Amino acid sequence: MINSNTVKIKDDEFAELSDLIYKHSGITFTINKKYLLENRLSRRLNELNFNSFKDYLYFLKYDFKGKSELNMMINLVTINETYFLREKGQIEYMVNVLIPQMMKAGKKSFKIISAACSTGEEPYSVAIMLNEAGLFSKARFDILGVDINYNVVETAKKGQYRTVSFRGVPSSIQNKYFKKDGFVYEISREIKSRVRFLQGNLMESSLYSKVGKVDFIFCRNVLIYFDVDAKKRVIDNFYRLLNTPGYLFLGHSETLSKISTSFKMNNFGRGIVYIKEGL
Ligand SMILES: C[S@@+](CC[C@H](N)C(=O)[O-])C[C@H]1O[C@@H](n2cnc3c(N)ncnc32)[C@H](O)[C@@H]1O
Repeated sequence: MINSNTVKIKDDEFAELSDLIYKHSGITFTINKKYLLENRLSRRLNELNFNSFKDYLYFLKYDFKGKSELNMMINLVTINETYFLREKGQIEYMVNVLIPQMMKAGKKSFKIISAACSTGEEPYSVAIMLNEAGLFSKARFDILGVDINYNVVETAKKGQYRTVSFRGVPSSIQNKYFKKDGFVYEISREIKSRVRFLQGNLMESSLYSKVGKVDFIFCRNVLIYFDVDAKKRVIDNFYRLLNTPGYLFLGHSETLSKISTSFKMNNFGRGIVYIKEGL
């Protein structure tokens, strides 16, 4: 919505700003998203008393506070849409097929990462489904949620949600794992304790050294915001991050076609999994 405090962004400012966002996060904004940046950032410009994006860009690039402002700005422009048990066929396949197979072969501990976890619904859904399958007593699980946006990571750590996060979730699951307090649904302590969260940028290699090797990566509904080069960079990092065998799940509208030939693709009926096979 445009109001009197909306700061209009000129085409050259848009080019500079979108380039800065891209270099920092991999997120690509095309010119038709100009209004989105105006809407999301105008209030911040007003708070900082900037009348134009030209001044804001100068601040971002040259002020000593520019680096922390860049992170603040990224928090304002990311799309954080998510909900519990989203595209749950993939989680079910991991929990009911892949993990039991790997356990049969002798594996006793698993590391699962929700890369771009937003407010935490995805990694908590993984923990809930592992619990439903009774797997926590049979093996060790390290579940990690990572997102570039500091604010969503802090929300994830709190584990408090509104009804909008539960679209399509059976009430039996909602009642079993969440305590209602007014409009807020608080996740059970047991599930909360199963998930760790980390603020991190999928574009930066320093993140991957902090994470260590993993068995499963869920990276869903984020690559759609990246261009081909940024996708390639992230997927190459994922390949190195995975154990062999290791499994990568993308969002239903995302694909590795034209991005990577390193993975084997398996269509298991309710979704697709990309596999890093043993040598
Ligand atoms: C639409 S949400 C997807 C949430 C969840 N994976 C799902 O499918 O429901 C996209 C998330 O990607 C995060 N994101 C965007 N660029 C990122 C980057 N370079 N590194 C880490 N997270 C990023 C955003 O902050 C946002 O929370």
